[in-house]
Amino acid sequence: MHEVIRRVEALRQQIEHHNHQYYVLDTPQISDSEFDQLYQELHSLERQYPELVTSTSPTQRVGGKAATEFPPIRHAIPMLSIQTETDTESSGAINFDTRVRKELGLYERDAPVEYVAELKFDGLAINLRYEKGVLTSAATRGDGEVGEDVTNNIRTMQQIPLRLLTTNPPALLEVRGEVYMRLADFERLNQKQAALGDKVFVNPRNAAAGSLRQLDPNITVQRPLSFFAYGLGEVQGWNVPATHSTLLDALQNLGFPVCSERAVTKGAEGLVAFHGRISAQRAQLPFDIDGVVYKVNSLALQRELGFRSREPRWAVAHKYPPQEATTVIEAIEVQVGRTGALTPVARLKPVFVGGATVTNATLHNQDEIDRKDVRVGDTVVVRRAGDVIPEVLSSIAEKRPAGAVKFDLIAEYPTCPECGSHVVREEGEAAARCTGGLFCPAQRKQAILHFASRRAMDIEGLGDKLVDQLVDGGLVHSLADLYALQLPQFAGLERMAEKSAQNIVDALERSRKDVPLARFIYALGIRNVGEATAKDLARVFGNFDALQAADMETLQQVPDVGPIVAESIKEFFAEPHNVEVIQQLRDAVTLQAGMAIQASKLSGLTFVLTGSLPNLTRDEAQAKIETGGGKVSSSVSKKTSYVVAGAEAGSKLERAKELGVMVLDEAGLLQLLEETK
Ligand code: IVH
Repeated sequence: MHEVIRRVEALRQQIEHHNHQYYVLDTPQISDSEFDQLYQELHSLERQYPELVTSTSPTQRVGGKAATEFPPIRHAIPMLSIQTETDTESSGAINFDTRVRKELGLYERDAPVEYVAELKFDGLAINLRYEKGVLTSAATRGDGEVGEDVTNNIRTMQQIPLRLLTTNPPALLEVRGEVYMRLADFERLNQKQAALGDKVFVNPRNAAAGSLRQLDPNITVQRPLSFFAYGLGEVQGWNVPATHSTLLDALQNLGFPVCSERAVTKGAEGLVAFHGRISAQRAQLPFDIDGVVYKVNSLALQRELGFRSREPRWAVAHKYPPQEATTVIEAIEVQVGRTGALTPVARLKPVFVGGATVTNATLHNQDEIDRKDVRVGDTVVVRRAGDVIPEVLSSIAEKRPAGAVKFDLIAEYPTCPECGSHVVREEGEAAARCTGGLFCPAQRKQAILHFASRRAMDIEGLGDKLVDQLVDGGLVHSLADLYALQLPQFAGLERMAEKSAQNIVDALERSRKDVPLARFIYALGIRNVGEATAKDLARVFGNFDALQAADMETLQQVPDVGPIVAESIKEFFAEPHNVEVIQQLRDAVTLQAGMAIQASKLSGLTFVLTGSLPNLTRDEAQAKIETGGGKVSSSVSKKTSYVVAGAEAGSKLERAKELGVMVLDEAGLLQLLEETK
């Protein structure tokens, strides 16, 4: 029996360790099947010896029946709110620093105060109570004094330890933090909900709240919730670290996820810099934030500063402008894209959101319109995050005017508004499409703009105004016509100075010479063939004829090319019009000799670029790596071979160090390229 007890405990520790690696650190050390083996062994031992089952066993995360309500829990220490600054510049940080210095009685000549700057996660606050290292209860914030007991739901979250990762746990430790949902998880959840005909959520915050406040933990366990720890509640028998930053490190060591995007800085200046840096990164973060939080680092100074009514004097939230706002849909129109897809677009009463005035927002497709039940006249929630195209998130049913009717795209647009061809929606496709192909001027224009874009043929100066003129004036019917254009034709266009005409002729001339195969493939605008796929195709086939001749099977030997992409490529080359245009284009441009996959020594190596390099632009560095046969990826993982870091490298560099990934500077990269030539 002793043997069994030891084995059960060893298994639990291993499973906890690997769960932590996988869910918190995002660096699994064993395969899923190896993990399953450990889990199954524990599970069967527990079935054989039920007396050995404990509430903290990894097999016991989902338990109990659906409840009828969440019992109240009175917080041992109230969960406070936090003062908010909303200016978009630097004054929020400066005001806070000024207040703190005044309260502490500091003079100008005194040293700057040390702060921790963190993200303000947009989820819901939670208090986790650990007695002798074991999770005993979890409560929402509620009104700050009394919250709801959501222990059974919190227990289903793999990111939250059921036991603290320490052999010497404190008598009592309350950890506070935010339960939230990552954007990608939110999208996936909503797709799943929609497919099942279940409720879809307006935003990740609502999805997180709705998932945590499920009475049945069997539902919560299926919801992709995440957690970040950022503070403490009641503590007994623990040496609380002297600073907030070392506290965060300690919480991380106890097994909690702590956001790596945090900084220790001195004075208002450091806070302003953090606010600016995160503002620029906000749209790229994998989760929503509504601001940043500044906290005095020293816990002794925090105690000295104390509280003003319900808010600590040692912390402040500096908010960003909201990325969501409500407005009214005045009309729904469609836009015809490069592949003929008709995208419904809501024309909005102008609204200021995400730092800009928005008048149009995408409705994506008919399914999305149905799912959100969006109608003309509706008051809707619009989201604009960074440079992302604004979208309609949801419609507010209570504000619907009488008589608003459902929008049916095909009924409204049986024919293409650009060319009059039939519009069809094929089985299993989300988009309705214009059947006009390159006969449709909208599709032709988009195809030309794509062909000319910087990462394709890079024809400088060929923008949408000029393309409109060329297509509407009948000068360009197909991509190949571009290279037949001469100076007089450009000079004859309205509002075209001679100098500009010459520039565009020169740009066309430059673009046709020595074209890398991958760019040419990408420029053709084959459906489902983006830049990365084009590069893979170029690498594997080495020349255009081989690609054009490839059958479905051969195509699918290319990394990341599955049946759908292969089918798109086959379809493209099966269209006689395309073959004709390709032939004309190949007469007009000179392709670089292909790079053969075997010849490269960097093949199989993955690079991540971060920060700005002293001489090379990011595109140049990427091109050099790819010419050498390497791959460039955007995120650092254990599989990354090298991180190439320049000035102001941020979290990726930290991640590389954490994972022990080799870091190179520009000189190191160039040397590596030289050595592997
Ligand atoms: S500290 C005494 N840190 O913001 C200070 N709060 O009004 C307690 N929040 O409901 C909060 N990110 O849910 C803190 N990094 C962070 C935060 C954060 C989000 C939320 C929290 C609370 C609200 C404060």
